[in-house]
Amino acid sequence: MRIIIGKDYDEMSKKAALMVAAQVLLKPASVLGLATGSTPLGLYRELIGMNQRGEVDFAQVTTFNLDEYYPLEPDHPQSYHYFMYENLFNHINIKPERIHLPDGTATDIKAACAAYERMIAEAGGIDLQVLGIGVNGHIGFNEPNPSLPVETHLVDLSEETIQVNSRFFSSVDEVPRQAVTMGMGTILKARRIILLANGRNKAEAIKRTVSGLVTSACPSSFLQTHPDVTLILDQEAAALIG
Ligand code: PGA
Repeated sequence: MRIIIGKDYDEMSKKAALMVAAQVLLKPASVLGLATGSTPLGLYRELIGMNQRGEVDFAQVTTFNLDEYYPLEPDHPQSYHYFMYENLFNHINIKPERIHLPDGTATDIKAACAAYERMIAEAGGIDLQVLGIGVNGHIGFNEPNPSLPVETHLVDLSEETIQVNSRFFSSVDEVPRQAVTMGMGTILKARRIILLANGRNKAEAIKRTVSGLVTSACPSSFLQTHPDVTLILDQEAAALIG
């Protein structure tokens, strides 16, 4: 595991943007796995700037997002569809037909999850997966559990995640109780992974990610088994690691 520490959120975001831009420069038709949440906002802001200055071109890029609330309509302001268009896709030259997110409205959820896996495979697999991390070590919405499904699946959100994410909703009762998420196997199949984390509240999860047991009680610990993972942290998130 490679660890890059920036002095603050802006430096973390810029370093992450350089890695994504390098990926797209080296392979213009890259398949990117993308994440939502507060953490990657700075990364997306940097990428928008680079795209608008003509430094990086997304015309041939394909994207697959990690997760989506279930059930939730794509035009709901708290949906991850909405988030991605607002914070990235509307501002870069990506082709709409190359954008993919799990379907938060599917009635046949099993078929929709299988179709998502198939689309990723047909696109050639994910070249670079961007991850955030939950305070409980979740990756995407792979919550700590006695066992973890390998592929894209419907998951019950943990009470902790519902509480943490309620800051975006008008009340905790409005937070969906379920989500569709790539599985740990889907994520670990990506050729390269970058995980971003900032702030003191992520320091414990980062410590458990880089050292200690590989355990489904801390899904991010499985990243220790992947050959090409880079953690990009600010100093606070790195506070508990050597
Ligand atoms: P955050 O969420 O970026 O809003 O902290 C990360 C996550 O829950 O994976």
